[in-house]
Amino acid sequence: MAHCHSERSEESLFVFGAASATLSSRAKLLPWGHDISRPYGVMYLAAMSSVENPTEKTLAELRVRTPESVTSLFAELREKANKEQRRIEKAEQFEQFRVKWVGRKSGILTQVTDNWLKPADAGLKRIVGQALNEFRNHLQSLVEQARQDLDARATQVADTRERVDLSLPGVIRPIGSRHLIRQVFQEIEDIFFSIGFSVVEGPEIETPYYNFEALNIPEFHPVRDDMDTFYIDLPKGAPVPLLLRTHTSPMQIRTMEKHKPPVRVIVPGKVYRRDNPDATHSFMFHQVEGLAVDTDITFCDFTGTIEYFVKQFFGPSVKTRFRPSYFPFTEPSVEFDASCPFCGGTGTAAAGGTCSKCKGAAWIELFGAGMVDPAVYGFVNYDAKKVSGFAFGIGIDRLAMLKYGIDDIQVFFQNDVRFLRQFP
Ligand code: PHE
Repeated sequence: MAHCHSERSEESLFVFGAASATLSSRAKLLPWGHDISRPYGVMYLAAMSSVENPTEKTLAELRVRTPESVTSLFAELREKANKEQRRIEKAEQFEQFRVKWVGRKSGILTQVTDNWLKPADAGLKRIVGQALNEFRNHLQSLVEQARQDLDARATQVADTRERVDLSLPGVIRPIGSRHLIRQVFQEIEDIFFSIGFSVVEGPEIETPYYNFEALNIPEFHPVRDDMDTFYIDLPKGAPVPLLLRTHTSPMQIRTMEKHKPPVRVIVPGKVYRRDNPDATHSFMFHQVEGLAVDTDITFCDFTGTIEYFVKQFFGPSVKTRFRPSYFPFTEPSVEFDASCPFCGGTGTAAAGGTCSKCKGAAWIELFGAGMVDPAVYGFVNYDAKKVSGFAFGIGIDRLAMLKYGIDDIQVFFQNDVRFLRQFP
């Protein structure tokens, strides 16, 4: 029995007999005790429990010879596995458990196959085989269960960490407001909506054809000089030059190309000119183009529409007038003025003295417009003999400055919240 008394290392206890096990619990170790007729069973059992790695020995070496003792032997092994599995708390422990019990190379399951089953006596082989199958299934479910428990635990930990406390006050983020320019766009759109116009938008990068030629501004026409234009650097051999549109008028052409008359649109958008920045100039500013074309539109419809718009925008007491002007794509062309809304069109400030807004002129220049030049219809396949219409181009920044008493166009682009907050 020398092998039974080999050193009682801690490891052997771990494998097959917890150090904390009491004698009475060890009494369950009876399996191999049954086979040997020893008078001092308890003492013997204590010794057997310290058998180092019994799965490294054959059944014959363990002196297991009956089916009952085989069953008990497996039951004991199973109990050990159960106990160890219950102690798993971490992934590393799980891995240790898995390798120790079902690891292919030297796991206990493999040992049992090699040491208990293979060399078993013919009489025991069947029962050992059966017990081994059950044991294997049992181990597999232990491993699987442990894996699931670990997963569930990990999820639980993550859930706790990430739990959202719905009773906490939220983060209050200040909501911005629309930029004043946007608000003015909206005001103007609403006014024109109400009289049957619709809104279209177009590209900010244009071809010279739409920005100039089709608007009756041929190359070398002197008005091109007024519109110091940003051309885009293109690779050599690019099919057409491109530029940043200098006005929203190209959309007159694009709209008429697409739609047969009647046409009634407004076009809000950004435009670009190579102007040096000062209180009234910016390299980028905003326009709302207007275009109405039908078979019977008169100059009266034109001025009536503009008058309606100006009264809606500045107030019913504001009067309009127009002066002759020049644009290549309108004929006749006009410049609209409004009676100064600040001094009531008197040129005199309420507190006396000259009105600072109109500089005493009583009128304020608003925007350019005119009846669509018949030459333009030629570019869009409209019959110039049948249709007529008007167009206008409102500078939004200028209008916003007038209406809201802003004296420097640059504040629109500086994004200073002290300015923006005044127009919530
Ligand atoms: N496009 C012209 C400009 O930017 C304004 C305009 C538009 C004039 C439509 C007449 C008709 O100056």
